[in-house]
Amino acid sequence: MKCSDDFVFGTATASYQIEGAANEDGRCPSIWDTFSHTGHTVNGDTGDVATDSYHRYKEDIALLKDLGVDSYRFSIAMPRIMPTDGGPVNEKGVDFYSRVVDELLEAGIKPCATVYHWDLPQYLGDKGGWQNRDTAWRVADYACVMGERLGDRVDTWITVNEPWCVSYLSYGGTEQAPGLGGGPAAFETVHHVNLAHGLIAQALRGEVKDDAKIAVTLNLQVNRGDADAVHRTDLIANRVFLDPMLRGYYPNELFAVTKGICDWDFVKDGDLDLIHQPIDMLGLNYYSTGLVTMSGRPQFPQSTEASVFPGCSDIDWLPTEGPHTEMGWNIDPNGLYDLLVRLHDDYPEYPLFITENGMACPDRLVEEADPETGASVKAVHDADRVDYLTRHFDAARRAMEAGVPLTGYYVWSLLDNFEWAFGYTKRFGITYVDYETQERTPKDSFKWYRRLIASRELPV
Ligand code: NOJ
Repeated sequence: MKCSDDFVFGTATASYQIEGAANEDGRCPSIWDTFSHTGHTVNGDTGDVATDSYHRYKEDIALLKDLGVDSYRFSIAMPRIMPTDGGPVNEKGVDFYSRVVDELLEAGIKPCATVYHWDLPQYLGDKGGWQNRDTAWRVADYACVMGERLGDRVDTWITVNEPWCVSYLSYGGTEQAPGLGGGPAAFETVHHVNLAHGLIAQALRGEVKDDAKIAVTLNLQVNRGDADAVHRTDLIANRVFLDPMLRGYYPNELFAVTKGICDWDFVKDGDLDLIHQPIDMLGLNYYSTGLVTMSGRPQFPQSTEASVFPGCSDIDWLPTEGPHTEMGWNIDPNGLYDLLVRLHDDYPEYPLFITENGMACPDRLVEEADPETGASVKAVHDADRVDYLTRHFDAARRAMEAGVPLTGYYVWSLLDNFEWAFGYTKRFGITYVDYETQERTPKDSFKWYRRLIASRELPV
């Protein structure tokens, strides 16, 4: 299937995962600096240097140009823009992103900027982070500054990346910063992140050019198994974001199911109107599916222990069928098809786009003779990633043929990078990064993607 000229092929990254330069040009620490420096990541890895993209952004954009993408999704680090609590805007931080945007435009690539991709300033973390309602307003203030400074040049804005991770994984569980492990206490953070989405969208709308698109990126769960278990996990993990953002309400069933562990008194009058802002598209990060079943245990009393799934203590997660990626995630392209079709059925007025999809592989850098010139060259033969991407692009094509308005697809990631709690042990890039030298080597998947983009022909 040939894609129309306005279909957007892209790749994605995020600030803390690639920039490094943690102490440069006035940047303040984020909750991820704290988390990674206090023993919460594999090998004690941190984002201090990462792929050094703060200094090498021109080289990265040259790679993007060579790849031929229509758009590049990157995120802006609030710690560079607002490095002090209540203090002035840091112009050096703004300048950096302004240069990135100009360099992209120069290369003919549309900038897609994520406002919040997890690097909350530590000074807001110290005041409770996402447990504090005020955080939503503070992040929206910074979004307003970015809208004002870059709004004339950025094509697409994403308010928040993966609210599920920002709330449940970080405050319900211990996997991500700040790792508070409060179980049902995460519901309050869910609401505050929802508020931040609405406030950011509202702030941006007032500043950015008329034809800019504003979206949110959700990592919705696609679970398979017992209908009851699937329904419940959909409610807790998906509809808790989808319904307020796209419809302006929390489903009543959510209050019923969480009765006894959460009274939702943090939802104030007018909040749902703030959350339910007009947005132009819904962004989806898709990687794999889960398998759930009702355990037979009673739902109550529920423990307040760490859980990324509060309200689901009577559900078991079963091992999924392989093959699995290096993350242990199963490979299920039909899950992407099912997700796209379901969202279009339930929320038909929203165009959809894939803001992340990709795979971690145990990549190996090899030196070999170039088949054409005989010269020694470096290469990474990541056939599994090519197969993964082929099958997921195929699923997207099938969904489009079934009538889903899919407007774009960003591969995660342009580069190997800091994979959060897994540090540098998981490689998602289509470009290999040697972390000793910072040398970038396009993998076979990069070359495959370049051919796909050049043909604009989705795999069959
Ligand atoms: C989701 C996140 O947005 C991104 O930061 C992360 O690296 C990838 N998925 C892979 O886990």
